Amino acid sequence: MADFDYDVLVIGAGPGGYVAAIRAAQLGLKTACAESRETLGGTCLNVGCIPSKAMLHASELYDEAANGALAKLGVKIDAMSLDLDTMQGQRIDAVKGLTGGIEFLFKKNKVTWLKGLASFTGANTVEIAGEKVTAKNIVIATGSSVTPLPGVTVDNAGGRIVDSTGALELAKVPGHLVVVGGGVIGLELGSVWKRLGAKVTVVEFLDQILPGMDGEVRKEANKIFKKQGFEYRLGTKVTSAQVVGDGVKLTVEPAAGGAVETIEADVVLVSIGRRPNTEGLGLDRIGLDVNQRGQIEIGHDFATKVPGVWAIGDVVPGPMLAHKAEDEGIAVAENIAGLTGIVNHDVIPSVVYTKPEIAGVGLTEEAAKARGEIKVGKFPMLANSRAKTNHEPDGFVKVIADAESDKVLGVWIIATVAGTMIAQAAQAMEFGASSEDIAYTCHAHPTHSEAIKEAAMAVTGKPIHM
Ligand code: FAD
Ligand code: NAI
Repeated sequence: MADFDYDVLVIGAGPGGYVAAIRAAQLGLKTACAESRETLGGTCLNVGCIPSKAMLHASELYDEAANGALAKLGVKIDAMSLDLDTMQGQRIDAVKGLTGGIEFLFKKNKVTWLKGLASFTGANTVEIAGEKVTAKNIVIATGSSVTPLPGVTVDNAGGRIVDSTGALELAKVPGHLVVVGGGVIGLELGSVWKRLGAKVTVVEFLDQILPGMDGEVRKEANKIFKKQGFEYRLGTKVTSAQVVGDGVKLTVEPAAGGAVETIEADVVLVSIGRRPNTEGLGLDRIGLDVNQRGQIEIGHDFATKVPGVWAIGDVVPGPMLAHKAEDEGIAVAENIAGLTGIVNHDVIPSVVYTKPEIAGVGLTEEAAKARGEIKVGKFPMLANSRAKTNHEPDGFVKVIADAESDKVLGVWIIATVAGTMIAQAAQAMEFGASSEDIAYTCHAHPTHSEAIKEAAMAVTGKPIHM
């Protein structure tokens, strides 16, 4: 049998790749991870989940002070101002701390970081920074990048037409921010700059924001964001954007075609989705192709059709989420080690970290109905004692169960802490819970989570507090 430099070589050190590398090393496999960025952690830690949450958290506190929410609680601030440099500084510190933490974990677990871009030269060989490296197993975890919009050229350094990376780093609060795409990035980063004082207009191709989420949740979210001052141009497409002087001129038209209009903006954020990173990987040299969406197809064990080559994370089908990539990272390493690594793709929660947060797991009401008879229980946050006490009345919990078996098929939540609450719904679904199981589980009082219990009670009977 041929000798290899490594048992496992992972390409990409995002949440998929770094987790796969650490787990492989923990399982006793000689492991390396190729990463071309200067820091580990991929999109998520460097320019995605972490820096966006750092800005969301800080801007939320600023907004609470500025809009009088704190004053209503007796916290009076006589003079306040925005120090954007400090706010950006804490974002940079958060990224530094966590990416450095992964470097520490690599050292601790004896994972070798091979610095540079990796490209296949054979099924068991890649070239990195001019060096050939061989491995018995190679895991592709190269992630994704921003989908470009024809007619709109992103220039993050210029700071006028930006993608999510540029939108995190703006040196000044824009007067008018136009967000192209009413998805997760548009609403999260739109919220950051809105709270700091920008006027925000969301231009969305479809007739509603947040595609893929439960219909009722999408409608309610739309209403809440409108109340917060977001402006929408739904059913509208951007056909071009040009930097003119200190601003940007956008031309838009109805999605179905029609009269062209101009919108003026200070900054334009392009957030129309992300696409898998496979360019330059040399997939053709190992006979591996991509599907119509540019993704690498895999089996349930994350093996590609090329023996010894595996793939996980944003580069394969499924939601482009860090926790999905991480779970796949653990599973692929376990499969390589001869164990049984499985990810239940039916129970992957998703969260939008706006205020309130929006979270869901499992089927939407529409998808569940299409599958068979269902029962639905709902409970408004307005009737939840903790949310009411905290002045957080917006939102609801919805539990969707199979009409016959009562098995929970989906849970949707709009609430300030929906991202934390959804974990118990995911766990309940993973354990095959019925709505009755949730309804008869004792929930601590007073917590937002009691709204999940009450929504579950509403599936077959009546909640107490409504
Ligand atoms: P990535 O994190 O993209 O990592 C891939 C790595 O591979 C990169 O570092 C890249 O440099 C490297 N690479 C690529 N090609 C090569 C090569 N040939 N050789 C060497 N290295 C290579 N998800 C959530 O779940 N929650 C969130 O709150 C969240 N917020 C987000 C906010 C923003 C603004 C963005 C953009 C994304 C967010 N995401 C969030 C999505 C999340 O970041 C991704 O789903 C996740 O990072 C995917 O992990 P991955 O390991 O597949 O790929
Ligand atoms: P998205 O897929 O969430 O939303 C893109 C939006 O753009 C959709 O509503 C789509 O209809 C719209 N769109 C597409 N083409 C358009 C056009 N030409 N004009 C106007 N609108 C158009 O993608 P987004 O927001 O870019 O985020 C990418 C991915 O990053 C997400 O799918 C998600 O997986 C991940 N992410 C996750 C976060 C989280 O978990 N909290 C936060 C941020 C990103």
